[in-house]
Amino acid sequence: MKNHKTIVLSNQEISPGYYRMRILAPDYNKLARPGQFVMFRVQRSLPPLLRRPFGIFRVGFMPADCDTMPPKEFIEIIYKVVGSGTEIMQGLHYGDPVELLGPLGQGFEFGEADEEKILVGGGIGLVPLYMLAEKMIDHSKVRLLMGGRTRDDIITVTEFERLGVETYVSTEDGSLGEAGLVTQVLEKKLQENNQVSVYACGPMPMIEAVEKICSAHRTPLQVSLEALMACGVGACLGCVVKGAGHTQEQPSYLCTCKVGPVFHARQLAWGSDDDAAASDCGVCR
Ligand SMILES: Cc1cc2nc3c(=O)[nH]c(=O)nc-3n(C[C@H](O)[C@H](O)[C@H](O)COP(=O)(O)OP(=O)(O)OC[C@H]3O[C@@H](n4cnc5c(N)ncnc54)[C@H](O)[C@@H]3O)c2cc1C
Ligand code: FES
Repeated sequence: MKNHKTIVLSNQEISPGYYRMRILAPDYNKLARPGQFVMFRVQRSLPPLLRRPFGIFRVGFMPADCDTMPPKEFIEIIYKVVGSGTEIMQGLHYGDPVELLGPLGQGFEFGEADEEKILVGGGIGLVPLYMLAEKMIDHSKVRLLMGGRTRDDIITVTEFERLGVETYVSTEDGSLGEAGLVTQVLEKKLQENNQVSVYACGPMPMIEAVEKICSAHRTPLQVSLEALMACGVGACLGCVVKGAGHTQEQPSYLCTCKVGPVFHARQLAWGSDDDAAASDCGVCR
């Protein structure tokens, strides 16, 4: 894990309210694993004081400007504008200074080679699944089930298709793909074949529904959680979730930023009041 003072290489709106930012990031091609994240800080302005967590969508190299220069290493993040930090981010341009702390957290485990993999992405939850698909596609069949409220929430699907991933799109308003929830598509796929591993990232209600379906089909599941985070390195405890077997008498809390953000479903407590929802920590915002 390193703190890089670096610069923005590009920042483009790819769908209404969604931006894709490329950032100069030395060493990330070597260090970053699918499912890991960075803590991002806009350097010039003081507020927002806290860094913001973003999944790593992709790592890569840009050609050098001239023969004597090495190629530029970059990461890409994709973000949805939801508040003060992401509003500042959408105004950034080539050359603007920013700070990256990372790569952070535990990434996905790839599972058995030759076993089919189903990736479930809800909206911006698609982000950490791209590098995972890149790693798995050479030895496994990979399907992506992508869900959103409207067609605007369906992003980068063609890039998954270019990797060779079979994609299924669903939107709640029926404006793109099948009308309905992505979890309904998952249920159908697991009825056809439950000898698969499932990897999911998205809003908490979607994650909980995916867990119920996978648990009913006895299908292994890894989830990437998007808890509120203040420090990203295990210091503030603002991101804890309840671990499996948690009770009031014997509490078990896991830091999403250190133990996660990717968890095996069996590591977490699921169910109505004792679910895996992130703590609502007043320190974090
Ligand atoms: C490990 C991890 C990876 C993430 N990856 C991405 C990503 O790839 N792309 C992306 O767009 N976002 C991602 N997020 C969420 C992102 O960090 C928040 O959207 C961002 O911090 C909001 O900052 P803000 O200052 O714009 O909004 P704020 O002003 O801080 O908050 C605006 C609203 O968004 C809500 N909010 C803030 N953070 C979260 C969160 N983590 N989950 C749910 N609601 C939240 C707040 O409660 C508030 O209602 C990730 C979060 C985590 C923990
Ligand atoms: S965000 Fe501070 S401990 Fe996880």
